[in-house]
Amino acid sequence: MILPIVAYGHPVLRKVAEDITPDYPNLKELIENLFETMYKAEGVGLAAPQVNLSIRLFVMDASPMGDEHEAFKDFKKVFINAHIVEENGEDWSFSEGCLSIPGIREDVKRPEQIVLEYYDENWTFHRNVFTGIPARIMQHEYDHLDGVLFTDRLTPLKRKLLKSKLTAISKGQVDTSYRMLLPR
Ligand code: CO
Repeated sequence: MILPIVAYGHPVLRKVAEDITPDYPNLKELIENLFETMYKAEGVGLAAPQVNLSIRLFVMDASPMGDEHEAFKDFKKVFINAHIVEENGEDWSFSEGCLSIPGIREDVKRPEQIVLEYYDENWTFHRNVFTGIPARIMQHEYDHLDGVLFTDRLTPLKRKLLKSKLTAISKGQVDTSYRMLLPR
Protein backbone atom coordinates (compact mmCIF):
# COMPACT_ATOMS: atom_id res chain seq x y z
CA MET A 1 0.00 0.00 0.00
CA ILE A 2 1.31 3.42 -0.92
CA LEU A 3 1.32 5.78 2.06
CA PRO A 4 1.25 9.59 1.98
CA ILE A 5 4.64 11.17 2.68
CA VAL A 6 4.82 13.70 5.48
CA ALA A 7 5.69 17.20 4.27
CA TYR A 8 8.19 19.63 5.75
CA GLY A 9 6.73 21.44 8.75
CA HIS A 10 4.92 18.41 10.22
CA PRO A 11 5.89 17.88 13.88
CA VAL A 12 6.56 14.13 13.45
CA LEU A 13 9.66 15.06 11.41
CA ARG A 14 11.06 16.78 14.52
CA LYS A 15 10.60 13.96 17.03
CA VAL A 16 13.34 11.62 18.19
CA ALA A 17 12.00 8.22 17.12
CA GLU A 18 11.79 5.19 19.43
CA ASP A 19 13.27 1.71 19.13
CA ILE A 20 10.75 -1.07 18.50
CA THR A 21 10.45 -4.73 19.52
CA PRO A 22 9.86 -7.75 17.22
CA ASP A 23 6.19 -7.81 18.22
CA TYR A 24 5.58 -4.36 16.70
CA PRO A 25 2.20 -4.70 14.94
CA ASN A 26 2.22 -5.55 11.21
CA LEU A 27 5.94 -4.84 10.86
CA LYS A 28 6.37 -6.97 7.74
CA GLU A 29 3.53 -5.16 6.01
CA LEU A 30 4.88 -1.78 7.12
CA ILE A 31 8.30 -2.56 5.60
CA GLU A 32 6.63 -3.57 2.32
CA ASN A 33 4.62 -0.35 2.37
CA LEU A 34 7.74 1.74 2.96
CA PHE A 35 9.44 0.20 -0.08
CA GLU A 36 6.33 0.57 -2.23
CA THR A 37 5.93 4.21 -1.18
CA MET A 38 9.63 4.93 -1.76
CA TYR A 39 9.63 3.38 -5.25
CA LYS A 40 6.47 5.24 -6.25
CA ALA A 41 8.11 8.52 -5.24
CA GLU A 42 11.39 7.52 -6.94
CA GLY A 43 13.40 7.86 -3.75
CA VAL A 44 16.44 5.82 -2.70
CA GLY A 45 15.58 5.89 1.02
CA LEU A 46 12.56 6.39 3.26
CA ALA A 47 12.33 6.64 7.04
CA ALA A 48 9.28 5.71 9.15
CA PRO A 49 8.79 9.28 10.48
CA GLN A 50 8.18 10.27 6.85
CA VAL A 51 5.03 8.13 6.93
CA ASN A 52 4.03 9.58 10.31
CA LEU A 53 5.45 6.81 12.51
CA SER A 54 7.99 7.90 15.09
CA ILE A 55 9.98 4.63 15.16
CA ARG A 56 13.63 3.85 14.37
CA LEU A 57 13.08 2.15 11.03
CA PHE A 58 14.22 3.09 7.56
CA VAL A 59 14.60 1.38 4.20
CA MET A 60 16.89 2.08 1.28
CA ASP A 61 17.52 0.81 -2.20
CA ALA A 62 20.51 2.32 -3.94
CA SER A 63 20.17 0.07 -6.99
CA PRO A 64 18.83 2.92 -9.20
CA MET A 65 22.31 4.38 -8.71
CA GLY A 66 23.79 1.04 -9.84
CA ASP A 67 24.19 2.32 -13.40
CA GLU A 68 27.06 4.45 -12.26
CA HIS A 69 28.21 2.39 -9.29
CA GLU A 70 28.32 -1.39 -9.75
CA ALA A 71 28.58 -1.92 -5.98
CA PHE A 72 25.06 -0.54 -5.38
CA LYS A 73 23.26 -2.86 -7.81
CA ASP A 74 21.74 -4.96 -5.02
CA PHE A 75 21.92 -2.45 -2.24
CA LYS A 76 18.41 -2.96 -0.89
CA LYS A 77 18.26 -2.97 2.89
CA VAL A 78 16.03 -2.61 5.94
CA PHE A 79 17.36 -0.96 9.10
CA ILE A 80 15.54 -1.49 12.40
CA ASN A 81 16.62 0.21 15.64
CA ALA A 82 19.51 1.84 13.79
CA HIS A 83 22.20 3.56 15.83
CA ILE A 84 25.30 5.23 14.40
CA VAL A 85 28.08 4.38 16.87
CA GLU A 86 30.97 6.05 15.02
CA GLU A 87 31.52 8.56 12.23
CA ASN A 88 34.98 8.69 10.68
CA GLY A 89 36.92 10.25 7.85
CA GLU A 90 36.88 13.57 6.09
CA ASP A 91 33.70 15.55 5.53
CA TRP A 92 32.63 15.52 1.87
CA SER A 93 29.91 17.30 -0.05
CA PHE A 94 27.08 15.52 -1.81
CA SER A 95 23.87 16.88 -3.31
CA GLU A 96 20.94 15.68 -1.18
CA GLY A 97 17.20 15.83 -1.62
CA CYS A 98 14.34 14.55 0.52
CA LEU A 99 10.87 13.24 -0.34
CA SER A 100 9.51 15.38 2.52
CA ILE A 101 11.13 18.49 0.98
CA PRO A 102 10.31 18.15 -2.73
CA GLY A 103 11.99 20.41 -5.27
CA ILE A 104 14.99 21.31 -3.15
CA ARG A 105 18.47 19.83 -3.58
CA GLU A 106 21.52 21.16 -1.82
CA ASP A 107 25.10 20.11 -1.16
CA VAL A 108 25.49 18.75 2.36
CA LYS A 109 28.77 17.95 4.13
CA ARG A 110 29.04 14.75 6.17
CA PRO A 111 31.84 12.40 7.26
CA GLU A 112 32.64 9.71 4.68
CA GLN A 113 32.34 6.65 6.94
CA ILE A 114 29.93 5.37 9.58
CA VAL A 115 29.75 2.39 11.88
CA LEU A 116 26.09 1.44 12.12
CA GLU A 117 24.39 -1.02 14.48
CA TYR A 118 20.97 -2.24 13.40
CA TYR A 119 18.66 -5.20 13.01
CA ASP A 120 17.55 -6.39 9.59
CA GLU A 121 13.99 -7.47 8.72
CA ASN A 122 14.70 -10.93 10.19
CA TRP A 123 15.85 -9.37 13.48
CA THR A 124 19.45 -10.38 12.86
CA PHE A 125 21.81 -7.90 14.51
CA HIS A 126 24.52 -6.22 12.40
CA ARG A 127 27.39 -3.91 13.16
CA ASN A 128 28.76 -2.74 9.80
CA VAL A 129 31.07 -0.12 8.37
CA PHE A 130 29.66 1.81 5.41
CA THR A 131 31.37 4.41 3.23
CA GLY A 132 30.62 6.66 0.30
CA ILE A 133 27.15 7.02 -1.16
CA PRO A 134 25.50 4.13 0.73
CA ALA A 135 26.77 5.68 3.99
CA ARG A 136 25.46 9.04 2.81
CA ILE A 137 21.94 7.69 2.20
CA MET A 138 22.00 6.04 5.66
CA GLN A 139 23.19 9.25 7.34
CA HIS A 140 20.35 11.18 5.70
CA GLU A 141 17.71 8.59 6.67
CA TYR A 142 19.23 8.22 10.13
CA ASP A 143 18.86 11.96 10.69
CA HIS A 144 15.11 11.52 10.21
CA LEU A 145 15.10 9.17 13.24
CA ASP A 146 16.62 11.96 15.31
CA GLY A 147 14.25 14.66 14.05
CA VAL A 148 16.91 16.26 11.84
CA LEU A 149 16.44 17.33 8.20
CA PHE A 150 19.17 17.97 5.63
CA THR A 151 18.20 21.64 5.48
CA ASP A 152 19.28 21.92 9.14
CA ARG A 153 22.81 21.13 7.99
CA LEU A 154 23.03 24.06 5.56
CA THR A 155 24.57 27.42 6.37
CA PRO A 156 22.24 29.99 8.00
CA LEU A 157 22.39 32.02 4.77
CA LYS A 158 21.34 29.04 2.61
CA ARG A 159 18.50 28.30 5.02
CA LYS A 160 17.35 31.90 4.85
CA LEU A 161 17.33 31.77 1.05
CA LEU A 162 15.21 28.60 1.15
CA LYS A 163 12.75 29.83 3.75
CA SER A 164 9.93 30.85 1.40
CA LYS A 165 10.24 27.57 -0.55
CA LEU A 166 10.07 25.58 2.68
CA THR A 167 7.01 27.51 3.83
CA ALA A 168 5.35 26.82 0.48
CA ILE A 169 6.05 23.07 0.87
CA SER A 170 4.53 23.04 4.36
CA LYS A 171 1.37 24.55 2.84
CA GLY A 172 1.26 21.99 0.04
CA GLN A 173 2.13 24.56 -2.60
CA VAL A 174 4.42 22.20 -4.51
CA ASP A 175 3.90 19.70 -7.31
CA THR A 176 4.71 16.08 -6.53
CA SER A 177 3.97 12.81 -8.29
CA TYR A 178 3.09 11.35 -4.87
CA ARG A 179 0.57 12.14 -2.14
CA MET A 180 1.76 14.26 0.79
CA LEU A 181 0.52 14.58 4.37
CA LEU A 182 0.57 18.25 5.30
CA PRO A 183 1.01 19.71 8.78
CA ARG A 184 -2.24 21.02 10.23
CO1 CO B 1 14.77 12.69 3.77
